[in-house]
Amino acid sequence: MERVTRPLSRLLGLLCLLLPILLPGAEHERIGQGDPRVGYDSSDYTTDSRQITGLSGRAADLVALVDRPPLGLPPLALARPITVDSVSLGRRLFFDRRLSFNGTLSCAMCHIPEQGFTQHELTTPAGIEGRVVKRNAPALYNVAYRKILFFDGREDTLEQQVWSPLLAVNEMGNPSIGVVLRRLNETTDYEATFIDVFGTGINVLTLGMALADYQRGLISADSPFDRWYFSGMSDAVSDSAKRGFELFVDKDCSACHQLENGFAHFTDDDFHDTGLGFDVAMKGPQQTTRMQIAPGVIIDIESDALPPNPNDLGRYEITGKPEDRWKFRTPSLRNVAITAPYMHDGSLARLRDVLDFYNAGGVPHDEQDERVRPLGLTERQIEDIIAFLETLTGSNVDALAADARLAPIGDVD
Ligand code: HEC
Ligand code: HEC
Repeated sequence: MERVTRPLSRLLGLLCLLLPILLPGAEHERIGQGDPRVGYDSSDYTTDSRQITGLSGRAADLVALVDRPPLGLPPLALARPITVDSVSLGRRLFFDRRLSFNGTLSCAMCHIPEQGFTQHELTTPAGIEGRVVKRNAPALYNVAYRKILFFDGREDTLEQQVWSPLLAVNEMGNPSIGVVLRRLNETTDYEATFIDVFGTGINVLTLGMALADYQRGLISADSPFDRWYFSGMSDAVSDSAKRGFELFVDKDCSACHQLENGFAHFTDDDFHDTGLGFDVAMKGPQQTTRMQIAPGVIIDIESDALPPNPNDLGRYEITGKPEDRWKFRTPSLRNVAITAPYMHDGSLARLRDVLDFYNAGGVPHDEQDERVRPLGLTERQIEDIIAFLETLTGSNVDALAADARLAPIGDVD
């Protein structure tokens, strides 16, 4: 009996593997994605989550990305080299829900690989027990290049940064560093791998190092824009996108979302007041927030569940300097088309909304950066700028998502 079924099941398995190749148009050709979530916001949506059982990853060479960054990015000078083993350890931790106090929430649940390492469905993500976080989750692409982290710049190394979500009461909710380290030591088999990789076990530094190494490998460029602008391939982008880029420079967008000689980060790693923080503050406390709780089912959550301080003062919260009020770090625009929703509070759902916001001149008030001003863009010009922004998606974003799914999803034993 066994002799008959085994080859048969092997054949079936092989067929399943080949199917996406045989049918190039097949819906689920992206490796690593359980449910394609196409039309997720419609009430006709049918889930395909059974595919989760077949979730498998495909390795991408993250170390090579760091050693030889793709077109459009400069060489990366790391104080500490990353290795295949440290990346692999960090990847595993990134997906491990045991890093949160009640074992429910991993880093990857707010920074979802298939959703641009941010998440599309909530303006601001939900932490443990559904606690609301006040800011939008940033996409983690190219975070190795960031000189300063978070919208308010409160950390400057990835090694230190991890303790922010691990200890935040509304994110992973751990009461102390000791509790996290003890739990990992007592409930997991990580210790030996840490010793292999870093020469020492799990501690406050090595946990940060492993997670940092994985995230540093999330490098993405070589976009259609890069091929046109840095490699001179004139047909890599449309004429509309070319006009859009010209406007992007003429209208001073590139003053903050900067390009350099030979490469571009589309950020100056600095803080500015675009008017959005001021707007939120002047509107007073948020009364409700929208949340999609099931496919097509959207509810308004009442103010009781909202964070106590919707008046987000941005950089001021770190420096205490009045002139830093409502200043936020300029986000990189690389991969911006796949990292909605936008701005520090995720309040703008589409690129179109962002363009309307800038075209109207932000929300004029005394401290607003003078380069954010009414732009008088026509409908066609707005479309051109959006077409340009859409050319900034790197060639390896699907590969990075597939690589992420190499990690087992860590669970409570
Ligand atoms: C509850 C959702 C949530 C979880 C869980 C979470 N993050 Fe985040 N992450 C965020 C939000 C929101 C921000 C932006 C916060 C801010 O700017 O103040 C952020 C910011 C970051 C940044 C800064 C990026 C930048 O461009 O400045 C990094 C890096 C990061 N997270 C990595 C991690 C890692 C590693 C973990 C797991 C240890 C993790 N996150 C867990 C929501 C989350
Ligand atoms: C004075 C500096 C400055 C100028 C000029 C500027 N931006 Fe921004 N941009 C920012 C900052 C800062 C943010 C984040 C604001 C926030 O989070 O509230 C931002 C956010 C964005 C975002 C959202 C990115 C994300 O991931 O959330 C887009 C898209 C964008 N800008 C495009 C543009 C375009 C297009 C122009 C020109 C019309 C422009 N910016 C001009 C500083 C600037």
